[in-house]
Amino acid sequence: MKSVKVIAPATAANLGPGFDVFAVALKQPHDIVEVEVKDTPGIEMEISGYSVPTEPRKNTGGYVAMRMLESFRIKDGLRIKLQKNIPPAMGMGSSAASAAGVAYCINKLFDLKLPTDDLIQFASYGEIISAGDAHADNVAGAIQGGFSLVISREPIHVMNLEPPEDMGVVIATPNIEKGSTKLSREAVPREIPIISLRENVGHASLLAIGMATKNIDYIKKGMNDVVVEPSRVRYGIFREFSKLKKLGQELNAGIAGSGAGPSILGIIEKNKREELAKGMKEIFENAGYHCDLFITEVGEGVREV
Ligand code: HSE
Repeated sequence: MKSVKVIAPATAANLGPGFDVFAVALKQPHDIVEVEVKDTPGIEMEISGYSVPTEPRKNTGGYVAMRMLESFRIKDGLRIKLQKNIPPAMGMGSSAASAAGVAYCINKLFDLKLPTDDLIQFASYGEIISAGDAHADNVAGAIQGGFSLVISREPIHVMNLEPPEDMGVVIATPNIEKGSTKLSREAVPREIPIISLRENVGHASLLAIGMATKNIDYIKKGMNDVVVEPSRVRYGIFREFSKLKKLGQELNAGIAGSGAGPSILGIIEKNKREELAKGMKEIFENAGYHCDLFITEVGEGVREV
């Protein structure tokens, strides 16, 4: 039977001011996604690793498969195998990795030759299942790799840039249950003052210039959000945030919430990652949380194994 098997990376979205726009693909952790054509109709799912729904319409990858089969009038049945190594509901793009991996495999299996924007559009439908909204930042990051930007949603248009070679990434994941991404998105303000818009546009611009010119200091300084993160802090989704920001200032690191949380993203030169990771872990442990760390860097997008 025909099959395609891919690596689908974790992603950290937003990077502070780029809500639903910015994301970086991470070198670790990543899921393994395999889609196989089967000789009976319908979609079957096999999941290993972290537990996620196995019913296709409740699974971000399964739902993307349903939408693609329907859109391209494909009658074949599919077996989707997900090896989930990215912790779900932690702000590391676990739902996006399933969705992006499945979209990539189906595009390849049926030779659909979808342009990147369209592929990302299909993958974003998976987020309707986990987030209640087809936000495209994580799936754009997972498919493109590097640093990615969702320039517009309707019509969807994405871009991507290679970050500076020396840029290291730390993800600190405290054992805080934020509930679903959908709940975390309910903490996002519906209206914002014009001065907040001005602040965020300024910082987002600096961050994007930093990526384009490979200037890590601009990237770190750009990781400042006065809109979404403060609200998520108030909702208890990002904990110990002011202490983490202070640590960032002391070590000259950029600190931001990782996607919808509760994980925190740190950006620093590769040779200083361990020090930053130790400090982040200490802050969470001193507050009584268990904290897992991913000491990594920006990596490639979905690719065949
Ligand atoms: N931009 C999305 C959010 C990312 O912050 O809700 C979800 O991982």
